[in-house]
Amino acid sequence: MTNTNNAKKMNKAVKAVKAVKAVKAVKAVKAVKAVKRNKKRPKRNILYYGDNLDILRRYVKDESVDLVYLDPPFNSNATYNVLFAEQNGSRAGAQIKAFGDTWRWDQAAAAAFQEVVEAGGAASRAMQAFRTFLGDSNMLAYLAMMAPRLIELRRVLNPTGSIYLHCDPTASHYLKMLMDAIFEPRNFKGEIIWKCTSAHSNAKRLGKVHQTILLYAKSKRCIWNPLYVPYDQAYIDTYYRYRDEDGRRFMSSDLVGHKGVNAEYKWRGIVRPWRYPKHRLEELDAEGRIFWTRNQFPRYKRYLDEMRGMPAQSVWADVLPVVSWSRERLGYPTQKPEALLERIIKASSNERDTVLDPFCGCGTTIAVAQRLNRRWIGIDITHLAIGLIKHRLQDTFASKVASRYQVVGEPEDLASAEVLAADDPYQFQWWALGLVGARSVEQKKGADKGIDGRLYFHDDSETAKTKQIIFSVKAGKVTVSHVRDLRGVVERENAAIGGLICIHKPTKAMKAEAASAGFYDSPWGTRHPRLQILTITDLFASKRLDMPLSRDLRTFKKAPRAKVKKTKEPPLPLQQG
Ligand SMILES: C[S@@+](CC[C@H](N)C(=O)[O-])C[C@H]1O[C@@H](n2cnc3c(N)ncnc32)[C@H](O)[C@@H]1O
Repeated sequence: MTNTNNAKKMNKAVKAVKAVKAVKAVKAVKAVKAVKRNKKRPKRNILYYGDNLDILRRYVKDESVDLVYLDPPFNSNATYNVLFAEQNGSRAGAQIKAFGDTWRWDQAAAAAFQEVVEAGGAASRAMQAFRTFLGDSNMLAYLAMMAPRLIELRRVLNPTGSIYLHCDPTASHYLKMLMDAIFEPRNFKGEIIWKCTSAHSNAKRLGKVHQTILLYAKSKRCIWNPLYVPYDQAYIDTYYRYRDEDGRRFMSSDLVGHKGVNAEYKWRGIVRPWRYPKHRLEELDAEGRIFWTRNQFPRYKRYLDEMRGMPAQSVWADVLPVVSWSRERLGYPTQKPEALLERIIKASSNERDTVLDPFCGCGTTIAVAQRLNRRWIGIDITHLAIGLIKHRLQDTFASKVASRYQVVGEPEDLASAEVLAADDPYQFQWWALGLVGARSVEQKKGADKGIDGRLYFHDDSETAKTKQIIFSVKAGKVTVSHVRDLRGVVERENAAIGGLICIHKPTKAMKAEAASAGFYDSPWGTRHPRLQILTITDLFASKRLDMPLSRDLRTFKKAPRAKVKKTKEPPLPLQQG
């Protein structure tokens, strides 16, 4: 008998040691994997200027990203305009073309299509099937643009990663098939219907009020943090019908378990298979957590204020779009609300994970990722977007956080600025104006003729009058006539100061012409040359325009300041409004 007992004890001890070893081994493997993952992750947050296909292929390592959100152009056949703040900082007026959303079946589209087809695999088969069905159409051109990018995004995702593809009903059905081909149907995790506008009256068809977000995982090991949303009032009124004397709302739920599962016994004269042992029922009653029905039957009080909310469902009607009066609105077309990204980022990533947005626009994903302590990578193909994101980070997080990221793809020296100017004068202009904090002005004949950018400031607290600086940006050769022209525009517009930004050094005649324009005298008694010439070399050397100090620059609509706080337990998802 003693021998048997000893043997049993030995067995138990051996098993315990084995279990401890197994746990240690799993922990060690996890730690090694975490180190490997961290090595792949970028050391700093990065904002890339450029075509995302090229950037992904060139810079983003395999399995280095935990979450991708992409909001590509939708093939909506539209051109989006950026709206900028008006002089008083409120209404948006001036517009400039931000990005086109039009796809044509042309040589470039055919080449993109061919590349995916030649790579083979399910994506290749899907694209060939699309061609049979859609022909050489604009929709096929759009899908040929998307396919290689989605393939790259799958490559950069960690095995525990997820991808959210934001699209609209124009192309969502084709994109879902493409995603099935690239990510496999078994990794499809759901389709979010986001109600993005209140109502659209259309006499001939159903009003279009939603967009679609397709969610795929890289594998079944994907990160998922359950989401809870506030209960709606109708649900509360139906289920949380009771109140304590102090007004606390509760619903009553069963204390009775299942026959054969829970032990049956008599409590307070009632025989049932109670969920809890007798002493716990006594405790609950003493704590006031038992609700006695009119028939003197006990039920458990489930308080509303102790609930986490309703598990989020696939229809999101409680995330309001960015509208003209939204505080967060920056005037970028297609700007998505932060609440939408907050939900996505919280559900599918953890603190310090890396979030990638390859079509990042004015940087909604980036701003939310930064606020939620995630690392981030943003890519956009316009300097306008990159400039806006830099302003947004500065306004939202101040320089401490905002300076801890790297921008890749912007000119870094005179030679690369010259290349940009030669390749794309528009992008050069957006970039140069971004450096001095000015906004671009759409090039059109008429009112804004001769003006490339504007910057507003306030230096007169008594009248609160908005003053302006007018910029002219010259990518090519400059002569004295450019200075004269700018002087004429400054006078015509009654601007305080004019700035000429150019690549080449100004001639003596240009400097003399600028000097002859005199000075702007601020109400504070400071004096600033009315016409100033800044070269790109000056800007690289951090030289800026000589202007009155103004704490209230109203050139861009400001993003509201964020409070970055670390929370272990994610708070309830955002309330409406
Ligand atoms: C629909 S907007 C994204 C808006 C963004 N979600 C936001 O909240 O601001 C699409 C963005 O993709 C950018 N874009 C278009 N094609 C691109 C490409 N090939 N590579 C990188 N960015 C691109 C456009 O410049 C535009 O800013």
